[in-house]
Amino acid sequence: MSDFPLQIDGREVTASAGMTVLEAAGRAGIAIPTLCHHEKLEPYGSCRLCTVEVESRGWSKLVAACVYPAEQGLVVRTRTEKIDRIRKLILELYLAHAPDAAGLRALAEEYGADRDRFEKEASFCIHCGLCVRYCAEVKGANAVGFIDRGTRKEISFIPEIAARECWDCRECFPLCPTEALQGAYVFVEALRFPRSTE
Ligand code: FES
Repeated sequence: MSDFPLQIDGREVTASAGMTVLEAAGRAGIAIPTLCHHEKLEPYGSCRLCTVEVESRGWSKLVAACVYPAEQGLVVRTRTEKIDRIRKLILELYLAHAPDAAGLRALAEEYGADRDRFEKEASFCIHCGLCVRYCAEVKGANAVGFIDRGTRKEISFIPEIAARECWDCRECFPLCPTEALQGAYVFVEALRFPRSTE
């Protein structure tokens, strides 16, 4: 199928079959904020920071741009008062996990999010799954996975695999939006190979 037109933020842009709204916007140079998206990974749609408004055949709704398919004639708005409010709330929830993460703070500034709005969470993890998915999909190593469920869900390195795979890789560290992943790995290493403190 050939390329087709759609409208993003009032501009006519062109997308190709199979593209998501995020990809179509990116091709047109229109930035949409993301936290759980990575171009090498399957779309995941968990953080919802990429929420945009789409309008088709007279109906409008809020969708995650990273998983929503671009369609011919679709009208997309990436920045409205409502969208900004949603992103602000999402960021405030994530800042409860990682109040000092530079990437989150930069986004918080852009959307006027208050890092102290919600009580701090014990876990740094915001469940973006980037480390888990990258390790599985790109590296095929499965050295890090999710443990627990619901509000207790977080990531954990699997010591036996991590000891073998992670030392020479560590490609997931810079992917973590909370910048705490490296700390989690160091912790696992410390447990597995305790060093004498003398
Ligand atoms: Fe789309 Fe996270 S980037 S849901």
